[in-house]
Amino acid sequence: MPLLNILQFPDPRLKNIAEPVKHFDEELTTLINNMFETMYEASGAGLAAIQVNVQKRVIVIDISHKMNQPLHLVNPTIVATRDTIVFEEGCLSFPGVWGKVKRAKELDVTFYDQHGKLHELSATGLLCNAIQHEIDHLDGITFYDHLSPLKQQLLRKKLEKIRKRAL
Ligand code: NI
Repeated sequence: MPLLNILQFPDPRLKNIAEPVKHFDEELTTLINNMFETMYEASGAGLAAIQVNVQKRVIVIDISHKMNQPLHLVNPTIVATRDTIVFEEGCLSFPGVWGKVKRAKELDVTFYDQHGKLHELSATGLLCNAIQHEIDHLDGITFYDHLSPLKQQLLRKKLEKIRKRAL
């Protein structure tokens, strides 16, 4: 399976808005499989289709240490949230930098699997955080957008440094 190219901030395509999936077909399964492979290869815990330049409401997540608990969510909708918590987040579109973001502490989400079956899930902790972070991507929002202007500036400088070092 081919690895997909992960868009890097500030690529304007990260601001695209994803469309709901209508066809639960082989193309969708292939996309999900390729997204998992791309996420695992990059040692990430989550990836949204927008990050691989596919404007579909599809996210993949695996928060396990052994990377053996894949979860995919198609057309996810957060139906309830409870309390708030501040999480330090990273993102495969911002390698090497992190930022603190205020999120819901618990949530209920409905979503479809690759076969079009509807599921409901309650999540807390890392999973709760990952679901919110990835659904944001589907709406063209990154964790960077949640930071203060000063924190955004610091993060951009740090990214520049990291990229210069990599050349
Ligand atoms: Ni991300």
